[in-house]
Amino acid sequence: MLKNKTNKVLDTKLDAVSIALKHSIKNLDSYTHVRGESLYVDDVNIRQGTFHAVVFDSPKAHGKIKSIDYSKAETLEGVERIFTYKDVPGENEIGGIIPDEPLFAEDEVHFWGMPIALIVAESEFIARKARSLIDIEIEDLPVITTAKEAKAMGSFINAPRSFSLGDTETAFADCDYVFEGETFSNGQEHLYIETQGAYAEPLENGNIKITSSTQGPTAVQKTIAKVLGVAMHKIEVDVTRLGGGFGGKEDQATPWAVMAALATHHLNQSVKLILNRHDDLRMTGKRHPYESNYKIGLSKDLKIIAYQTEFLQNSGAAADLSPAIAERTLFHATNSYYVPNVTTKVLSCKTNLPPNTAFRGFGGPQGMFVIESAIAKAANEIGVPTRKIQEANLLDENDTFSYGQIAKKVEAKNTWNSAKQLFNIESLEQEVEDFNKNNTSFKKGLAFMPITFGISFTNTPMNHARALVHIYLDGSVGISTAAVEMGQGVNTKMMQIAADVFSIPIEKIKIETTNTTRVANTSPSAASSTADLNGKATLMACKALVERLKTVASEDLNASENDITFKDEFIFINGKKSALTWTELISKAMLKRVALTENAHYATPEIHFDKTKEKGHPFAYHVYGTAITTTTIDCTRGTYEFDSVKIVHDYGKSMSEGIDLGQVEGALIQGIGWMTMEEIAYNKDGRLLSNALSTYKVPDIFSVPKIVEVIPVETEGNEMAILKSKAVGEPPLMYGIGAYFALQNAIKAFNPNYNLEFHAPMTPEKVLMGLYENTK
Ligand code: MTE
Ligand code: HPA
Ligand code: MOS
Repeated sequence: MLKNKTNKVLDTKLDAVSIALKHSIKNLDSYTHVRGESLYVDDVNIRQGTFHAVVFDSPKAHGKIKSIDYSKAETLEGVERIFTYKDVPGENEIGGIIPDEPLFAEDEVHFWGMPIALIVAESEFIARKARSLIDIEIEDLPVITTAKEAKAMGSFINAPRSFSLGDTETAFADCDYVFEGETFSNGQEHLYIETQGAYAEPLENGNIKITSSTQGPTAVQKTIAKVLGVAMHKIEVDVTRLGGGFGGKEDQATPWAVMAALATHHLNQSVKLILNRHDDLRMTGKRHPYESNYKIGLSKDLKIIAYQTEFLQNSGAAADLSPAIAERTLFHATNSYYVPNVTTKVLSCKTNLPPNTAFRGFGGPQGMFVIESAIAKAANEIGVPTRKIQEANLLDENDTFSYGQIAKKVEAKNTWNSAKQLFNIESLEQEVEDFNKNNTSFKKGLAFMPITFGISFTNTPMNHARALVHIYLDGSVGISTAAVEMGQGVNTKMMQIAADVFSIPIEKIKIETTNTTRVANTSPSAASSTADLNGKATLMACKALVERLKTVASEDLNASENDITFKDEFIFINGKKSALTWTELISKAMLKRVALTENAHYATPEIHFDKTKEKGHPFAYHVYGTAITTTTIDCTRGTYEFDSVKIVHDYGKSMSEGIDLGQVEGALIQGIGWMTMEEIAYNKDGRLLSNALSTYKVPDIFSVPKIVEVIPVETEGNEMAILKSKAVGEPPLMYGIGAYFALQNAIKAFNPNYNLEFHAPMTPEKVLMGLYENTK
């Protein structure tokens, strides 16, 4: 059913005149990035005498440690000390959600790459050399590498979770069609350009300052305090920016910071620990691989009546963020569709892989891949185009999600229909059909991918942030928030907010480093909510300062406070420019002893969730969109290119269009990489085989689609989004799922006997096998 609504597509050219700032703004970091001046952990000026550390990690995935001989390593010239669990003064425990993860292995190892000791030496070179001199003897224990094996063995992280809506059992009996199947989606390596690392320096009285490449400064501070057995106020964590995080530094930046701090605590000297790429790939967790099964039931008119699925999440050897990620898989299990009868269940399966962790989408993409697979399967069996089923079930206003939230301001049909119109779907489909008729050795495939993604930390208490804003006496401004800049442009957005409220040029505003002494008890920069949470806090602080300054101005100008506005560094009365400038006003406020600092706290209103019932209203709002992906495959080689990805995306009212477009493009390519080429491989012994960039392929400039077109749908926006500009970091990753199904459709065009399989990534090898399977 078409929603009777006109699609207002933003005309960027026209808008540019009216809202100059929004368009002219570039990611502020780009200036220092292109000059090579941006500072990362490895660029911190280190103190004279700083030690360098390297982690000694397990060479086995599971076993009992029989003996370790450090003697040769310890006596190597330049080695200062080797730290193990025996040197931990507090708790040898770093688990965030469940305390099930030691900082250093004690008697057993649980994954290949598990930290056992920290070697501290005069140089990294010496520390590495020392590492090669350590002898370890491990008695093998059985190794579990897949979620299915773990399930069979009863090896789980926690109790399963399940969401349900309606009566799935009964509903299946009423369906005209019922299909069942299995799916697999592989993990994904974050491949942030800046590897994990931290630099710890001793301050006086046993206090320690840590410069960390983390998305979660408070998690680092809290865990160091726990491991060292000291109060949190003794630990200061500072973050300038990250060379990418993508979720990989929400939790897993912590151990390295803790190790550096531990060494500093004992040695009273600065310690730097930066993982090299090999160590990082081996020791850190990735996106969770999922093995899932589904059952989908439809009516004759292609309505999805019932949907049931069991997700097996390969959590790795410790909980890390797995329970939260599993939960989000359930939240997004029905993607953009309304299904009246749903039962979803997720099992976090404990295996002997490095603990898997947050990765852009946070379990959502894994859930969405399964329902898209189920729909593709149903379409194939019934003999209708997949998009007919997708289209027949798109979410509508006031539909209920399986978790009880009522869908409001839904843009699922709007973005879908806009995509169809704007990109002229009839002619696109005709082109594909004609091409396939006229070509035998190349085939094209097209797929639609709608997305619906909930914005907020699913754990309600995490949805808060603070901002500390100082106006200095020369009128310049310094802002501290909990936001960590990791390439997503959040600092620029904070700056825009302040510039807008104060009406001063952005040159007058500085975004400070993220530091736990200025903004405490923070949630990590994650869940795509960083700009919303920290932006709202910044907005509140700036507005409070403006109110205070208005009083000063009204006294000075003998005007009513209500008539005063600030514009372009001048004070206006009733819209008329006065002689009073921003800088003068600040001086006057100083003389009047008015506070020029404000600290604001924001907590997302309205959201709640009851885990005992698995019902509530966990999300501030949802982000919607639709992508149409077209691919051409070479049927001799199995290789492929993406001709185009055409997207209609719900930005709300984007406050920084260049930045947001960059997020959509980057996320899309990352999603395509996950679905088509990035293949993580462990052997049966739990050793990472894809342990270098020669064996792990990420998208490069040659693998991006030839055309990526992103059109914003202008929506009302949402009050819960910062300046109605919706969160954009994660949702577009899931457009990449369309790439899998576009490839599958192209294979089908070549090989009618192709047996639909849902086993991502769809690598060229898999395409080639699909092209020729069941053929004589
Ligand atoms: N973009 C860049 N360039 N680098 C990153 O590390 N992380 C992504 C996304 N976009 C990331 C990124 C992830 S996983 C999240 S949750 C959001 O940014 C976090 O930032 P936001 O909350 O400001 O959107
Ligand atoms: N998203 C991302 N990170 C998180 C979440 C979430 O919902 N919950 C806890 N960490
Ligand atoms: Mo993003 S996976 O929430 O850091």
